[in-house]
Amino acid sequence: MKLWQGRFEEPTAKDADEFNDSLPFDKKLWKEDITASVAHARMLGKCGIISEAECDEICGGLETIYSDIAAGTLEIKDAEDIHSFVENELVARIGDSGKKLHTARSRNDQVATDFRLYVRNANDNAVKAVCTLVESLADKAESGLKYIMPGYTHLRKAQPMCAGHFFNAYAEMFLRDADRFSSSRKRMNVMPLGSGALAGTSYPIDRNMTSTLLEFDRPCENSLDGVSDRDFVADYLYNAAMTMMHLSRLCEDIILYSSEEFGYIEIPDAYSTGSSIMPQKKNPDIPELMRGKTGRMYGHLMGILTTLKGIPLAYNKDLQEDKEGFFDAEKQLNGCLGIMAELIDNILLRGNRMKKAAEAEFACATDVADYLAKKGVPFRTAHEVTGRIVRWCIAENRTLQNMTIEEYQSFDEHFDVDICETVQARNCAEARTSYGGASPKSVKENIRSIKKRLSRFEDSV
Ligand code: ARG
Repeated sequence: MKLWQGRFEEPTAKDADEFNDSLPFDKKLWKEDITASVAHARMLGKCGIISEAECDEICGGLETIYSDIAAGTLEIKDAEDIHSFVENELVARIGDSGKKLHTARSRNDQVATDFRLYVRNANDNAVKAVCTLVESLADKAESGLKYIMPGYTHLRKAQPMCAGHFFNAYAEMFLRDADRFSSSRKRMNVMPLGSGALAGTSYPIDRNMTSTLLEFDRPCENSLDGVSDRDFVADYLYNAAMTMMHLSRLCEDIILYSSEEFGYIEIPDAYSTGSSIMPQKKNPDIPELMRGKTGRMYGHLMGILTTLKGIPLAYNKDLQEDKEGFFDAEKQLNGCLGIMAELIDNILLRGNRMKKAAEAEFACATDVADYLAKKGVPFRTAHEVTGRIVRWCIAENRTLQNMTIEEYQSFDEHFDVDICETVQARNCAEARTSYGGASPKSVKENIRSIKKRLSRFEDSV
């Protein structure tokens, strides 16, 4: 039965019904709808808007509906939306007192409340999942402490660094994501229930009571805003899009570094796929797919922003479009975060390949220039001398590591025997002890700080 049948002579056309109904997707909100309805009924009882007996009957009925759905014995179907389903079922079970549940309430404040409760929970789960990934990255950084790899700019070898530095860089990004999710929670934890259809209600309701029961920080202060605000959905989707962008960058690095050409890491078999024609192939489909899904996640953010941009106050049916994109985003984000944490836990570091690469292609050249500068040669001159050394090495097919001291001295008299030690990749990395730098010592410090910041989130969720 439609909740608004009284006004109509004709039934809705079948295709219009299908087009209008949200039950196929908003049935996900069943727990929140029942929980918020129980809180509303308790408040109506407490305020004397319905009798204590009616309140108990309603709450008892709602609880049996909850347990039957949870047990799988009650199928959610045959209604316009989840709100109609729960109310119809309640009336079927307890009769006329069930018809009083909707006193001082509209589906407009109801759906805004249900969805907030749902998104709030999803938001908490996102913080947890992001933190799990940060933990995996910091642990992997710890295993990377003993390895030296090349760092890149412009995808050209730049300077040697401790391999842990790479994983910590991503841990930092995801810590910011966790921070974004948890700051959105504060904004979204405001309760629309009691806003009515748009203008509040003439019943003597107690919004503080429902707000406390539903663990909101406070009721919203403007009913028009309460029913039409979906900023919390956009907040989640922005945070999710940003997290996916970070995941996508990590995927790109994993794909590159696990290729034959780089070979710094190996993706475990359990997270790789093969080719139907080329027997030798071990493909990075998992990170590729994650990188691909990032586009669709940006799409969900654009979707909600575009849906919201043109609607007049207050509730309009456009707002029903807030859910499907969100549900998909939630599913994709959780899936990607979970699988990435497992992939990172199981990824193999290939120390020898990293070290070889860190010494090749003159990644230690900055350290040659710095060597001269530390001996009093102006850095710009030292840079120029080192540039000539590199050019000579390329022409002679030599490396900075196999040049003799005499050859170095032929370029500049400031070179001493210790230059041969200075250009070892490990020494170059170990020398970068500045705060936040790539030396194993600084990386260790970074891991300690990441774990400390991580524990603050773990305490808050
Ligand atoms: N299914 C609707 C939604 O998700 C519920 C609110 C309906 N309100 C209304 N006035 N038609 O937005």
